[in-house]
Amino acid sequence: MAIVGNDIDHAVSLLCANKLVGIPTETVYGLAGNAYSQDAVLDIFKVKRRPSFDPLIVHAASLERVADFVLEIPPEAENLANQLWPGPLTILLKKKDIISDLVTSGLDTVAVRVPRHPLTLSLLKVLDFPLAAPSANPFGYISPTTPAHVNEQLGNEINYILDGGPCSVGVESTIVSFEKKIPTILRLGGQPIERIMDILGEVEVNEHSSSQPDAPGMLKSHYAPSKPLILGGLQEVPNDIDKTEIGALVFGEMYTDLPEENQISLSDSDNIEQAAKNLFGAMRELDQKTDIRVIIAQLVPDHGLGRAINDRLKRAATR
Ligand code: TXA
Ligand code: MG
Repeated sequence: MAIVGNDIDHAVSLLCANKLVGIPTETVYGLAGNAYSQDAVLDIFKVKRRPSFDPLIVHAASLERVADFVLEIPPEAENLANQLWPGPLTILLKKKDIISDLVTSGLDTVAVRVPRHPLTLSLLKVLDFPLAAPSANPFGYISPTTPAHVNEQLGNEINYILDGGPCSVGVESTIVSFEKKIPTILRLGGQPIERIMDILGEVEVNEHSSSQPDAPGMLKSHYAPSKPLILGGLQEVPNDIDKTEIGALVFGEMYTDLPEENQISLSDSDNIEQAAKNLFGAMRELDQKTDIRVIIAQLVPDHGLGRAINDRLKRAATR
């Protein structure tokens, strides 16, 4: 198991030696390494069992530091970053050569984010390189929102996890591309698009998924528990499954005919932010309960963080 602690100096010394560290962000925990180190980047792909075609997000302490490794920041992107960073927003920018093709899977853009978590911001400020960090889960599985989640799955492969407590947002960052005339949302996430549209005006949401996605996070089946997740109510569950074998992610009323211990309420007050914060932990918990064979979940109101929640539920339900 990895050691869980809040020793920034220890995290710095590991990262400077091109070792990987689990880091907290406001969205989900990341598996971080020196973005300028070939060894560290290769290690990230190996530990995560991530296909090399799926590029990494690079995290920096500030917009000023981002200029170290991108060729240009278009005015629209700069405006958005100025207003929403630090925060759950990732922007695609043309990379400098100092970012290797390994990080970007051969693309000429690099995904960049200034995260809002104070511990990770302090860490980034003292490092003289940015951190490449995908979510700290095996490829395709549910993202981690606590140090314990990281330890459960990657604890044997890394030495240290910085403990920043439970993630305050709970779903991954919103990804925006400025490659086309109209800005494109490549992944719905922790930054609600209503806020992005307030700043940019019209945006396009690219919700399609294919075998050649613009962002593999767009892959139809992703963020998924090991057990089948069914979108809808009890009537959608196959007849051969007993009521005691159904787990439920609940937003609103609990099911009266299911055992209470197999149901997790995402919010006790119909609060969408709270539901986002609880979503991945609840999915994991039901996935791990041995008596449960299928998980049911209903979509939530489709605005604000509800759009990201619904996106993750739909992807989790596809297999
Ligand atoms: O909230 C987050 O974004 C978290 C925390 C740790 O920052 N990170 C995260 O990383 O979710 P990851 O690797 O699990 O997801 C990154 C997504 C992937 O779907 C990847 O395909 C996409 O970003 N991506 C990265 N670089 C890209 C690029 N140049 N063009 C298009 N998509 C890119
Ligand atoms: Mg991920």
